[in-house]
Amino acid sequence: MGKRTRVMAGAIATLLFMGVLIPASRAGRLDVESKEQVVRYLLATVRAFRTVYVKDIEEHVRKGGVYPKEQWAQDAHAIMLPFQFVKLAAAELKGAAKDVEVGVISLTPIYASNFPQTEAEVAALKAMMEHPAQTLVTFTDGAQFKGLAADFAIEQACADCHNRHPTSTKRDFKQGDLMGAVVVRLKK
Ligand code: HEC
Repeated sequence: MGKRTRVMAGAIATLLFMGVLIPASRAGRLDVESKEQVVRYLLATVRAFRTVYVKDIEEHVRKGGVYPKEQWAQDAHAIMLPFQFVKLAAAELKGAAKDVEVGVISLTPIYASNFPQTEAEVAALKAMMEHPAQTLVTFTDGAQFKGLAADFAIEQACADCHNRHPTSTKRDFKQGDLMGAVVVRLKK
């Protein structure tokens, strides 16, 4: 083999080696990336359904005198709260996909059960409250991969109902405020 041929053969061998190595290392990384992608899609899906519920269904039936109420099940002229819509859908989802949990959390919740479940969730939600322009965060937390999507008071009724609720821990919400976040918890 001449020198040039040896150099060429060496270069080809290096390229082949890299061709094997790089996809292998990418495959390792891809796992975390694809988990993050799944969390992002789930958050986007939950938010999209919730927004349509609030902006189209709730606003529409309001014109006919039907309002969202916590005790909606006992009142034929009421529909469920946006939170309850997510909670019921989350229970359906849990039945279909055991590794996924969906919820809505707040640092100043109406019920303590809607407070973040771990220190990492508290920290992530606090950071989001301080920088509401950051509308989506993902992070690992123990055995789970998690994502938060900002939940804004997209209409005055969100703020009014929360301010008036007997067990509310915050009474000065305004339209446009960040009230909490939709959370997705995915088993690693
Ligand atoms: C008519 C009253 C009412 C309206 C309107 C309403 N909520 Fe709520 N919201 C509640 C109640 C009650 C809960 C707690 C329900 C539960 O835990 O079962 C809740 C739960 C939440 C939570 C979870 C934390 C907590 O406070 O417990 C967030 C975040 C939230 N709502 C945001 C919103 C947003 C954003 C809107 C408007 C798009 C909205 N809410 C509209 C009554 C209301």
